[in-house]
Amino acid sequence: MNRKNTTLGEFIIENQASFQYSSGELSKLINAIRLAAKVVNHEVNKAGLVDIIGEAGDTNIQGEDQQKLDVLANEKFIQTLKNREIVCGIASEEEDDFISVNSNDNQNQNKYVVLIDPLDGSSNIDVNVSVGTIFSIYRRVTPIGTPVQLEDFLQPGRNQIAAGYVVYGTSTMLVYTTGDGVNGFTLNPALGTFYLSHPQMQFPETGRIYSLNEGNYVHFPQGVKNYIKYCQQEEGDRPYTSRYIGSLVSDFHRNMIKGGIYIYPKSSVAAEGKLRLLYECNPMAFIAEQANGKASNGYSSIMDVVPTALHQRVPFFCGSRKMVEKAEEFMAVQE
Ligand code: AHG
Ligand code: MN
Ligand code: MN
Ligand code: MN
Repeated sequence: MNRKNTTLGEFIIENQASFQYSSGELSKLINAIRLAAKVVNHEVNKAGLVDIIGEAGDTNIQGEDQQKLDVLANEKFIQTLKNREIVCGIASEEEDDFISVNSNDNQNQNKYVVLIDPLDGSSNIDVNVSVGTIFSIYRRVTPIGTPVQLEDFLQPGRNQIAAGYVVYGTSTMLVYTTGDGVNGFTLNPALGTFYLSHPQMQFPETGRIYSLNEGNYVHFPQGVKNYIKYCQQEEGDRPYTSRYIGSLVSDFHRNMIKGGIYIYPKSSVAAEGKLRLLYECNPMAFIAEQANGKASNGYSSIMDVVPTALHQRVPFFCGSRKMVEKAEEFMAVQE
């Protein structure tokens, strides 16, 4: 049932049959994300009013200066997920190692691990530009009731059972998939309720928007340089339009609605690019493929990469299928 203005709660109940595991567990998982998203949305919307913009004074394992909102969003999502008795482990961009939940309680029947980028696009916080949250959900692979292990988190993206993002923009939206298409819900802040506003979202097969940080041009591989020149040539429906917001979630969301490609390639200064496989690229790739888009490392599907480390980075090409395929052609011929 995909009628507009269904609430998120009604949607979960009406569509739980398509969820391959226990429907009650799915609704607990998505409801935990929904609650945390509302809490973080409240903080994001008042960021300029109270002392939560600016740097927290620490650096994370990525070597980034943590923003106060990075830390706050991280705490809110972890706390909400822990309290909902459905998750046995959490990994986050802002946590060096994964967090075991109820690991001492060997009755711990919780089956799911959640990986999060609690605040995506941190550089935009202080300048009032849209930011997001990204989440990725797996069933654990180690025996239920035992302490969660690193291998529960190092699963290929193909194993995800759900993934989604929140975009805190002109409106706040929760967009997610459980493997049965992609649906977008818009928050009515007056009621605190998410309503189905974008049923069955699909990437246009192609588009005219390319999103990447061209400031790094000199460092890019020749294939990426050649693709950028292709986008800028006057031929057919080109030159394309360049749009780069600085938040993966926002660029991805716009490209899914209008058509486009987002690229964060490897470079001479970032050997594997910047984006993290487990809590940025895999969840966005799951959504992209469910929306008839494509997500690769320039050569093969991101969701086939076998992870080796919690915070590993991969080059990322994602968006309208025909645009990603064209970019891959340029990557294949790196004269
Ligand atoms: P995060 O804020 O979670 O660290 O992620 C930021 C990512 C992504 O959201 C964005 O597209 C990209 O970094 C911007 O990187 P550059 O500033 O290097 O272009
Ligand atoms: Mn960061
Ligand atoms: Mn991010
Ligand atoms: Mn982040």
